Amino acid sequence: MRFPPQWLDELRDRADIVQVVSRYVQLTPKGGRYWGLCPFHGEKTASFSVSPERQMYYCFGCHAGGSAITFVMEMEHVGFQDACKLLAEQVHMDVPQMERGGEDEASRSLKERIYEANKQCARLYHSQLWKPESAQILQYLYGRGLDDATIRKFGLGATMPGWDGATLELRKLGFTDDELVSAGISVRRDGKIYDMFRQRAIFPIIDAQGRVLGFGGRALGDAKPKYLNTGDTPIFNKRRGVFAANLLKKQRGLKRVILVEGYMDVVAMVQAGVPGVCATLGTALTIEQARLLKRYAPEVWVSYDGDAAGQHAILRALEIFEQEDMPAKVLDFPGGMDPDEYIRAYGPEAVEQIEPMDATAYRMKQEMGNHDLSTQEGRTAYAIACAKHLAKVKQPVELENYVKQLMMSTGFTREVLLAQIGRTEMIAQDKQAIYRRAARPLEEKNEGVDTETSAAEKQLILLLASGHVEPGVVSADDFITPERREVAEKLLGGMKPGVILEEIEDEGKRARIADLLQRDSGAAEDHLRMAGDCLRILHKKRIKEKIDELTQDLANQKGPQKRETLLQIQELTKQMQTGGRKE
Ligand code: UTP
Ligand code: MN
Repeated sequence: MRFPPQWLDELRDRADIVQVVSRYVQLTPKGGRYWGLCPFHGEKTASFSVSPERQMYYCFGCHAGGSAITFVMEMEHVGFQDACKLLAEQVHMDVPQMERGGEDEASRSLKERIYEANKQCARLYHSQLWKPESAQILQYLYGRGLDDATIRKFGLGATMPGWDGATLELRKLGFTDDELVSAGISVRRDGKIYDMFRQRAIFPIIDAQGRVLGFGGRALGDAKPKYLNTGDTPIFNKRRGVFAANLLKKQRGLKRVILVEGYMDVVAMVQAGVPGVCATLGTALTIEQARLLKRYAPEVWVSYDGDAAGQHAILRALEIFEQEDMPAKVLDFPGGMDPDEYIRAYGPEAVEQIEPMDATAYRMKQEMGNHDLSTQEGRTAYAIACAKHLAKVKQPVELENYVKQLMMSTGFTREVLLAQIGRTEMIAQDKQAIYRRAARPLEEKNEGVDTETSAAEKQLILLLASGHVEPGVVSADDFITPERREVAEKLLGGMKPGVILEEIEDEGKRARIADLLQRDSGAAEDHLRMAGDCLRILHKKRIKEKIDELTQDLANQKGPQKRETLLQIQELTKQMQTGGRKE
């Protein structure tokens, strides 16, 4: 079921984003945009901007971005259709009869059914927890130190009795077996249908919009697997979300998020009064999750289990946060304890006593465990290993501190260590060089193309977004990176930036594209020339790729074939030198 497209178009025209946002946020005009305090994260100075031209909003602090419709979805915690209805009311439009749609609509409505089934299922599990037949499960949670308030806060639950208790109850509420299987609540085996979770304490996984995405179930004793999680469903993938995203979202102005390994660690820390805690869902940290966390705080502290696996996972997580330019520290609980165990042993107050460690300090500490510092060989290997980590420290003052430590533990001089690290300019006291290095901008990462190409693509997107170039001048095929080609295609199809954002479900991707689409397109005149320059850069890049490809082919070629390839390379090189003009 869906709204007729013409009606949606009219709604988008009439529900002006500035007016819509103004109902919630006080906006002040400045420089072609409107500014206010971001409603999605706590802040004291305005970094939330609304662009009437592009009909989009973007927060420079938490990277939230979208259209009038997504704004209402987020503020009111409602789905797409309800947000449209609310907006229609505000602009005095009648809500039309829904149309039956094609395949897309079928999948959208299956998703909505799954959200609903999960919500009802979470309710069942939670109320089941207080029934006499669930005493063992409730006792288990009490036994792990949880109180009733915490159990309610997380909506913890107990599985239903029998093999199919939840399935039967949800059928009564009108859900079909197919819907329940798609939701991962039920499983089909040999034509019969059973509950996925049995004899477990239930942790519902709830997203920032308050929707139940799936469940984690803890076995009571040593039954295996210890935790059972909802598998991939149309609305859930454990690599994308984090546990307790719903609570993160409610906490404004967090200075840091704490990332832990397990459900129980989150619950125990929250009960202890520690703000901003969340966990991955039984996988190693993914890039998507790292990007998601960026929206909630400017920094993250990683606090995994004290065992070897946990410590190894910290190093990997630090790499991912580094890649994503998210400052990360390590909260290392003494004695190899999990956060949960530590709190139970020493009480909530003890958590605050632990100072987080810098990523570099943590890496050096780990290296110390890998080497025997009582031998010269060990000290040398240790110095080499640490130098690799220190090469990433940009600030000279920070580096100086680490170098001092390393001098003490290895006996090498400052000069030798700086040479090993590759920072000889600090030996020569060449201040200029130090500043040059410190001020060097962060390189673009993970885009698979060089900065020049990337900049050209971005500029073209902005020219399209601001309507400064005609569709005839640029085509989607001019773009090299798939993500930006997709955006260009939509802009060329006449979609407003805000609407493009509406359709992106992945939060990280949405933040990235919102950040791109909100930028100014630069000088007001000369747009055509600017577009021409960008197109030439991209065209040249393509030719260069082609040349590289042909050059590789050469190695395996002989005789006439080889001559043919050489001619092609020559021709392409000529094209490149004449400025890569399009033929
Ligand atoms: P842990 O085994 O460290 O969990 O796994 P934990 O929280 O310390 O367990 P208990 O309850 O205190 O003994 C960390 C996380 O890895 C996932 C879960 O998300 C768990 O919270 N996991 C673990 C699974 O998905 N399946 C498993 O069998 C075990
Ligand atoms: Mn544990």
